[in-house]
Amino acid sequence: MSDRLVTAMRKLLLILSACLFSGLLSANEVAVAPTVKPDGLPVLGETWLEANPYRGNPLAVSIGQTAYGQTCARCHGADASTNAAPAPDLRQLNRFCRRITDLDLKAACMRDNDAYFAKTVRHGKIIVGVTQMPPWQGVLKQELAWAIQMFIESRAMGGKE
Ligand code: HEC
Repeated sequence: MSDRLVTAMRKLLLILSACLFSGLLSANEVAVAPTVKPDGLPVLGETWLEANPYRGNPLAVSIGQTAYGQTCARCHGADASTNAAPAPDLRQLNRFCRRITDLDLKAACMRDNDAYFAKTVRHGKIIVGVTQMPPWQGVLKQELAWAIQMFIESRAMGGKE
């Protein structure tokens, strides 16, 4: 076998094992749609909004709780009630906004936070090629995503800052 062939085969082997390794790492990270339906919530359609339209809607909190349990809990912790889960404690997401007393500033902070939440959920978290969190766009309806955020916020309000 020529040296060049051996080098080429080594490279191929390296690439193959890299694929296998990242495949193993991300084997779990597939977005699976929840079975709960957003029945009773205002229908939002396909185009994602930038801000959560369900703030103050108690139905969104209860539907969100079920949807969270079915889709997010396995990484972010059961019932959004722990910071000991493998993925970040989502109750912390709007903690800066909660501390602002000026109402206009607070509203602006919440809008930014909503946009970040939606963007992260839609596109997932893929960091140096490893899927930390799968993208939910096309799997999770935006009604359910916003409902999940309402559930998380209801947990954050009841918990410590
Ligand atoms: C396969 C595990 C997994 C599942 C399932 C999952 N996530 Fe994540 N998520 C992660 C990880 C890991 C991160 C942190 C990635 C990083 O930045 O290092 C994350 C980050 C986030 C962030 C950003 C947090 C921050 O502090 O910036 C949001 C928002 C989020 N996830 C929402 C959700 C929602 C909503 C669901 C359910 C629809 C969900 N995730 C399901 C693993 C998951």
